[in-house]
Amino acid sequence: MADKKARLTVDGLEEAIELPVYSGSEGPDVIDVRPLTGKGLFTYDPGFVSTAACESKITYIDGAKGVLLHGGYPIEQLAEKSDYLEVCYLLMNGELPDAEQKEKFVNTIKNHTMVHEQMSHFFNGFRRDAHPMSIMVACVGALSAFYHDSLDINDARHREVCAYRLIAKMPTLAAMCYKYSIGMPFQYPRNDLSYAENFLQMMFGNPCEEYVPNPVLAKAMDKIFLLHADHEQNASTSTVRLAGSSGANPFACIASGVAALWGPAHGGANEAVLTMLEEIGDESRIEEFVAKAKDPNDPFRLMGFGHRVYRNFDPRAKVMKATCDQVLAELGIEDEPLLKIAKRLEQIALEDEYFVARKLYPNVDFYSGIILKAIGIPTSMFTVIFAMSRTIGWISHWSEFHSSPNKIGRPRQLYTGPSAREYDN
Ligand code: SDX
Repeated sequence: MADKKARLTVDGLEEAIELPVYSGSEGPDVIDVRPLTGKGLFTYDPGFVSTAACESKITYIDGAKGVLLHGGYPIEQLAEKSDYLEVCYLLMNGELPDAEQKEKFVNTIKNHTMVHEQMSHFFNGFRRDAHPMSIMVACVGALSAFYHDSLDINDARHREVCAYRLIAKMPTLAAMCYKYSIGMPFQYPRNDLSYAENFLQMMFGNPCEEYVPNPVLAKAMDKIFLLHADHEQNASTSTVRLAGSSGANPFACIASGVAALWGPAHGGANEAVLTMLEEIGDESRIEEFVAKAKDPNDPFRLMGFGHRVYRNFDPRAKVMKATCDQVLAELGIEDEPLLKIAKRLEQIALEDEYFVARKLYPNVDFYSGIILKAIGIPTSMFTVIFAMSRTIGWISHWSEFHSSPNKIGRPRQLYTGPSAREYDN
C-alpha cells in the first residue's frame, strides 16, 4: 500500500495525476507510474537510469556511499569472513546457512559438478581459438537440452535444482573452454576439493599427475567468485529477469545473461582493463591515455573506471585491490609492472578534475584482471570467470521473479518514425 502520493501536472490535462509513492527498507522512494498509461502517457528513461524495474530483497547498493549489501550483510564482511558457496546460499535463501545447512549445500553442489558426457562434443564444433565466451553462451544455453526433469519454472523445487546444477556446472564448462583452447584433455571435477580448488584443478590439472591446489590461489579465486556474485539489477541480471518473464527455460535465461555480460561496458571490462594496461605498457604513457579518455571526440574510455550506480569507490574494488597486493606478495611477485601502472593510473585519475567531476572511480573490474593473471588465467578467460561467479546472482533473481505473481516485461517507446502513409510505390 502506498504511504505517500506524487501529483503530476501535465500541460493539456485538466487534472493533476495522482501517483502512489512506495518506500523500501533502504534506498530512494519509488513513484508508481503505471496509472500514466490510462492517461495516454508513458515515462521515458533510456538506459533505465531512474527506473526501478522490480521489487527485490536480494542485494542493495548505495552508490553515493559505496555500500553493497547481500541479504543485509556488507560485502567487506562477507569477503573477509564468508566464502563463495556460503554467499550463494545467502543469495538463494536470504539467510546465512548454519553449519549443517552449509555442509548439505556444499555436498549438493559437489554432486552436480559433472556435465553430460555429450556436452564435450559441442566443443569440437568450435575453432580452438574461439573466444571462450562464445562457447559459454552456446554451452550454457545447450544445458536446456539435458535437464527436462526440472523445467517447471512454477515449481520451487525445480527452480532450486536448476540453481544447484548451474552453480555446480559453470566452473566445469568454464575450465573445459580453457582446456579446449590449449588442446589439452578436459579434467573431470574432483569431490575431494573445495569449489575454488576444484576449479583450479579443472583448469590447470592434467591426467598425468596429481594436482595439488595452491591454498593462496584457491583463497584468492574464491574471493573473486564472491566479489562478483551479485549486483542488483545490472545489465545482465536485468536481461535474465526479462528473458525469464517470457517463461523461457532457466538455462536459456542464464545464457542470455552470459551474452549480456560479455560487452566491454559490463563484464567484458575486466578483459579490456588488462588489454588497456598492456597497451599503456609503461607509466610514462599514462597521461597520453588519460587524455584520450577525457577527449569527447575519442571513443576510448578508461576501462575499469566509472559505474552507473557508484558515485564513490566500488567497495568490491577496494577489497580486490587489497587481495591483489596479498596474492602478488604471497606469490613473491614483486614488481608486477601492470599493477604499478594500474596504481599510478588510479592515482592520476582520482586527482584529475574530469574524473572527479564525473565521480569516476575504479570499479570491480579494475584490479581483478591482475589477480587472475597472477593465478595464471589467460585474459580471454576473465569474463568467463565473471560469468561463472555471477551465475548465482542471475539464478537468484530469476527465481525471485518466478516466486511471486509476475508479468512479461514489455517496455514501450517514444516513437519518432513516419506517421501512417499510403503505399505509393
Ligand atoms: C560492471 O551495473 C553494474 O552493477 C555492473 C557491474 C556488476 O557487478 O554487474 O558493476 C559490473 O559492468 C562494472 C563497469 C565495467 N565497465 C567499465 O569499466 C567500462 C568503462 N566504464 C564506462 O563505460 C561507464 O563508466 C559505465 C558503462 C560503467 C557507466 O556508464 P554510464 O553510467 O552510462 O555513464 P555515462 O556513460 O553517461 O558517463 C557519464 C560521463 C560521460 O562524460 P560526459 O558525456 O558527461 O562528458 O562520464 C564519462 C562519460 O564519457 N565516463 C568516462 C568513463 N565512464 C564514464 N570517461 C572516461 N572513462 C570512463 N571509464
